[in-house]
Order: sequence, then C-alpha cells, then structure tokens
Amino acid sequence: MVQIDKIIESDIDDIIKLLEPHVQKGIVLQRNHDEIMREQHCFFIARIDGVAAGVVSFHDYDNHLYEIRSLVVADKYAKTGVGKALVSYVVDLLRVKSQQARIFALTYVPEFFTKLNFEPVDKSYFPEKIWKDCVNCPRKDCCTEIALINRG
Ligand SMILES: CC(C)(COP(=O)(O)OP(=O)(O)OC[C@H]1O[C@@H](n2cnc3c(N)ncnc32)[C@H](O)[C@@H]1OP(=O)(O)O)[C@@H](O)C(=O)NCCC(=O)NCCS
Repeated sequence: MVQIDKIIESDIDDIIKLLEPHVQKGIVLQRNHDEIMREQHCFFIARIDGVAAGVVSFHDYDNHLYEIRSLVVADKYAKTGVGKALVSYVVDLLRVKSQQARIFALTYVPEFFTKLNFEPVDKSYFPEKIWKDCVNCPRKDCCTEIALINRG
C-alpha cells in the first residue's frame, strides 16, 4: 500500500533520483539539495513497502494560488495509483489550508490531471507563475505545456 509522508532530510537523495530522468527530458525542473531542504515543508514522498515510489511538491504564490510541481512516479510503479494518491494528498492539504485555494499545474500530461478533477485554463490566468519560472525560459514563446486548474 502506498504511504505518503512529509519529507525529512534523509529523503532528499531519493527525491533527486526520482526527479533526475525527467529533469533530463525537460519535463520537470531541476531541484537541488539546498532548494529541497529550504522547501522541505512543501515536499511529499510516496513509499511502497518502504521504497521511494514518487514525489510531489507545491509552491505557494500567496493570494491562495498554489502550483502542483515536481510530480514524478518511478517507472516501476507507473499506473498503479501513486501519482493520483500524491496529487489528491496535496490538493486535500491545500484545501484545508485555504478554502479559497486555486490549485494549478503546468504539464505535458493533461489527461492525467483531468482525471483528477482539473480542467484546462489559459496560462494568462497565472501571471505570478509566468513571472517566476517562465520569463527566462528559452521555450517561453513556444511552450506546449498545458495549464490546468483544480475544480475544487
Ligand atoms: C504523470 C505521472 C505522475 C502519473 O503517475 P501514475 O502514478 O502513473 O498515475 P496513476 O496510476 O495515479 O494514474 C491515475 C489515472 O491517470 C491515468 N494516467 C496516468 N498517466 C497518464 C498519462 N500519461 N496519460 C493519460 N492518463 C494517464 C491512469 O491511467 C489513471 O486512470 P484511471 O483512474 O482511469 O485508472 C507519471 O507518469 C510520471 O511521473 N510522469 C513523468 C513526470 C511527469 O510528467 N510529471 C508531471 C509533471 S506536472
């Protein structure tokens, strides 16, 4: 059974290993040890029988706007419900934190998110996001990521 927990420092190497293949493919952003340590309270790890199976984090943009990010499931556990469990866990947590939470994701796998009660939305809806990560991206004018927001 999948177990989801807040991370502790000793999880960080596992997280970097989970993210790495997808960083190489340009699917998720690289996160280094210090950054993960600093944002430790925003990271969650999924374990199956004690083995790291997936990771997710969120970013708080203030004004009740949150991004689901650094979402990866190890290939070995793909399509077994780990990704769904991770996203549902964070969405539930953010809804408790803020009843007005607007929770979004930028992704190349919109079909996964639409199954989890997200719907496509125009990226211009998220000026904070564009400013933070996208403004310096070489792909900013030809980005094919889809923005989706949780319906609540
Ligand atoms: C996307 C990802 C997190 C999905 O994780 P997962 O654990 O395999 O997904 P789940 O098993 O929880 O799937 C939940 C549902 O979504 C569907 N789904 C999963 N991946 C999908 C995909 N790529 N395309 C369409 N549907 C998908 C599943 O079939 C399942 O549907 P069901 O409820 O009807 O059975 C995983 O494939 C991954 O790590 N991808 C690479 C990194 C990435 O793209 N991260 C997202 C960045 S925003």
